[in-house]
Amino acid sequence: MLKNKDLLGLKNLSAEEICEILDGAAQAKEFLLSGYKKSETLAGKALVTLFYENSTRTRTSFELAGKYLGASEVNISVATSSVQKGETLIDTGKTLDAMKIDFVVIRHPMAGAPKLLAENVEASVINGGDGMHEHPTQALLDMFTIREKYGKFKGLKVAVLGDIKHSRVAMSNLYGLKKLGAEVYMYAPATMIPKDIEKLGAIVAESREEALDGADAVMGLRIQLERQNGGLFPSLSEYSKFYGVNEALLKYAKKDALVLHPGPVNRGVELTPGVIDGEKSKILEQVTNGLCVRMSILGLLAEYREKNL
Ligand code: CP
Repeated sequence: MLKNKDLLGLKNLSAEEICEILDGAAQAKEFLLSGYKKSETLAGKALVTLFYENSTRTRTSFELAGKYLGASEVNISVATSSVQKGETLIDTGKTLDAMKIDFVVIRHPMAGAPKLLAENVEASVINGGDGMHEHPTQALLDMFTIREKYGKFKGLKVAVLGDIKHSRVAMSNLYGLKKLGAEVYMYAPATMIPKDIEKLGAIVAESREEALDGADAVMGLRIQLERQNGGLFPSLSEYSKFYGVNEALLKYAKKDALVLHPGPVNRGVELTPGVIDGEKSKILEQVTNGLCVRMSILGLLAEYREKNL
């Protein structure tokens, strides 16, 4: 069982809790693929999505996960909500609590906003991505996709290439993959590698070839132009040429390596179209798996609430 009412990041989740979520996602996938997408698991529960940043995958999959499991589900459009009148995050959270909601999924540009909300509301808070801090449900779906193929993490090499410095996905993956025993290689321009990332267990490669050599999974990350002040690389075409992954480079990875990307992809920048649409690519399978992981998380948090609150 999960040990907290909230899911805020993988840094503070144990290996056992991660495995429990992945096991739940495997059951959810069987349910999803059965074609009859209706269960009573969350009947009588209410889920709110509160996104201060844009999203297609995370928000939609949480909304569908709630619906498929029988919860009532509402999205708050931040652009047309009382946030625009100056309402604070905590006041918004307390307002939702007063409507007796059970879960709130939040995405926010400020690192730590989900934790602040969680400390001030009774609902279970799920981090849908906070600034450059963590995106735990993305990393869990990435890990689920890797485990589906290999059945394990120990001894695997995962290469992560792209805008690591601004990537909450990279951080959550690093915490989760290291806890489960994988080796994580990272490669990016020096301007996009966080200082001291090695202290968290990453191996910083000297070249794309070193990062990809013998990799079991290759993860491209989006260039996060919205979080950059510019000047981190000369141009998008040069970024693609010197730091992106193309089909020739992919030959350094294992023959049946997985290609992952959290999406949305800048086509032709971090990955070439041939890599995105190639046979190794699991990018769309990741989206399906995201729904399964989010169903698993909602089910497990509901179980926690039932037993502890
Ligand atoms: N990977 C991810 O978080 O995608 P969205 O921004 O579409 O939710």
